[in-house]
Amino acid sequence: MINNVIEIAKRAGEIIREGYGKNFEIEYKTNELNLVTEIDKKSEYTIKQYIKKNFPGHGILAEESGSEKGSGEFNWIVDPLDGTTNFAHGLPIFSVSIGIMKGNETICGVVYDVMRDALYTAELSSGAFLNGNKINVKKNNNLATSVLVTGFPYDIKENPDNAIEKFASFLTSCRAVRRLGSAAIDFCYVAQGVFEGFWEVSLNPWDVCAGKLIVEEAGGLVTDFNGNQISPFSKQILATNGGVHNSMLEIINNSKASYSI
Ligand code: IPD
Ligand code: CA
Ligand code: CA
Repeated sequence: MINNVIEIAKRAGEIIREGYGKNFEIEYKTNELNLVTEIDKKSEYTIKQYIKKNFPGHGILAEESGSEKGSGEFNWIVDPLDGTTNFAHGLPIFSVSIGIMKGNETICGVVYDVMRDALYTAELSSGAFLNGNKINVKKNNNLATSVLVTGFPYDIKENPDNAIEKFASFLTSCRAVRRLGSAAIDFCYVAQGVFEGFWEVSLNPWDVCAGKLIVEEAGGLVTDFNGNQISPFSKQILATNGGVHNSMLEIINNSKASYSI
């Protein structure tokens, strides 16, 4: 199945690349921070048509159109354009993220970083790859020399579990913190050994499903903020190289909510 996922992720990537920098419709979803463009919708439509044609009976959970139950145990979890704010504002960091779950287990994940033409792939128990070359998390146990990445939810103004206090604590505990704007790419950079760790709250399964498997298959660790194993539906995500996992958990759980926004 991975070859099919790759084929459709790249096809969706072409649609996105073609639309980039052009005039496209933008709508607000829940608020003016949370955008959807006609390119998100076009990408999702194309991916769903492909799945329905080639895998009738498979369920689909896709960001813009919700869930369609299948008749068996396979479910595709689809983010047709991860990094919509970047895309809409002309920042070339965005991706297509597609995972397949068999029952409760993710068996395959593909993230296509569109503008870098970087294809991250993983199948359960078979390793993680970037454009066909095996990738591994970075060997580093020292948070002080680590570079981390995070993101913020669209409901940050209302969400009490906001990420600001954690962000402030990490800023003074590691080498640098980045905020790229595509959670799927954040996971992949952990898998590739660029970042030692990625944390975020309130992500959705389509942000997490493929990236989580890619990190795990690259030798990394993905848990909630208690260090427990999670499904792609978890609202707390800590994805690391393993080496800085406990140090990051400690900071996450000890950072005081002294910042208000
Ligand atoms: C968003 C991106 C961003 C993360 C947000 C996500 P979208 O996805 O992954 O990095 O911080 O929480 O919702 O809306 O661009 O698909
Ligand atoms: Ca997303
Ligand atoms: Ca999206």
